[in-house]
Amino acid sequence: MYTTIPHSHAKLYGMTDLVAVARSLCSSGKGLLAADESVHTATTRLASYGIAASPEMRRKFRDLFFGTEDVERYLSGIILFSETLSEKGDDAKLFPESLAARGIAPGVKVDLGTEPMQESPQELITNGLLDLPERLGAYKKQGAVFTKWRAVIRIDGDELPSTVALHENAKRLAHYAKEVQGAGMVPILEPEVLLEGRHGRARARAVIVETMSTLFSVLDELSVDKASLIIKTAMALSGSAIAKIDSPEEVAEDTVAALLESVPRQVAGIVFLSGGQTPDQATANLAAIAKRARSANAPWPLTFSYARALQEEALAIWKGKEENVPAARAAFLDRLKKVSAALV
Ligand code: 13P
Repeated sequence: MYTTIPHSHAKLYGMTDLVAVARSLCSSGKGLLAADESVHTATTRLASYGIAASPEMRRKFRDLFFGTEDVERYLSGIILFSETLSEKGDDAKLFPESLAARGIAPGVKVDLGTEPMQESPQELITNGLLDLPERLGAYKKQGAVFTKWRAVIRIDGDELPSTVALHENAKRLAHYAKEVQGAGMVPILEPEVLLEGRHGRARARAVIVETMSTLFSVLDELSVDKASLIIKTAMALSGSAIAKIDSPEEVAEDTVAALLESVPRQVAGIVFLSGGQTPDQATANLAAIAKRARSANAPWPLTFSYARALQEEALAIWKGKEENVPAARAAFLDRLKKVSAALV
C-alpha cells in the first residue's frame, strides 16, 4: 500500500544506516530530550524562572542538563539548537562530541521558526527550506546525526486547521525530510497539534488523523523513505482552555487509535512532545499510551521527546545559580527515570 525506496536506491543514499540510526533513537528503551529552544524561546523560558538570558546563560542552561551524570542510561539522543553545536560544556569539550562519546546521538532543529500564512493569517507556516542544503552540510560536519522540523497546527472549532495550512505544512515537512535523508541524516517530522484551544479530545484526535494522513500522502508523492524517518506528535488531549483533565486511559485510547489510523507501519518510530502538560501528566499519559500500544500490537516503537516536561522541575530549582546545580540535576535525573519507567 505504501511505496518504499528500492533496495539499490536505499544503499546509494546509505538508507540502511539511516534506518538503524532512526530505530536506535526510538527503540532502545530510551528517549529524547528536546533541548532545541531557539534564542527567542530560551529567553522567554529562562525569564519565566527569573533568569536573565545571555549567550553564556544559554550555554549554562544546556550544560545543566547535558552535564548531568548518568543521563545516557535514559537518553538515546538530544535535539540541539544550532548554536549549541559549536559550544562547549564546563568539561571544555564540544557538546556534540561529549554527548556522542557517552552514546547519546546529537541532533539539531533545522527549521527557522514560523510566520503567519498569507492565505490563512490565523495559522502558521514553518520556514527554513531555502538554504537548508548548505546548513545541513555544516550541521553534519559539526556532528549532528539527526534533525527536527516543527510545523504548528492550530485547532479552532471546526474551522481550523484549514486544508491549505495542513497541505502547505505537509509539503514543507516532506521536502525537509527528503533533503535530510539525501544528506545522510535522520529526519524527525513534528507536525504539532497545539494543546491551546477550546476543543474537546475527540476533535484533537480527528485533527491528528487529518494531519498525519495529509502528511503521509505528500510523503508518498515525493517518495520519501518512511523506514528512516521518525514522527513526533502531540497526544490527543482536550484543549487547555476548557480546563478538562483527561484520564491517562482516555488519552491513550484516542492517541493510539489516531496513530494506528494514520501512521504507516514502516516508520522507524513515533516520539511524543509534552506540549504544555505538567511533568506528572506527561509521564502518566506516556505510561498509558505505551501500555495501550502494546495491547493493540502497534507496529512502531514509541518513546518521549520532551522539552518542558523533562526540564521544568530542574529549572525551577536552578534559577540560574551555580549553588543550585546539584539539586537541579538530581530533579532532572529523577524525572528522566520516571518518564523512562513509563515506557515499560
Ligand atoms: P515540549 O515537550 O515542551 O512540548 O517540547 C517539545 C518540542 O520539541 C517542541 O518543538
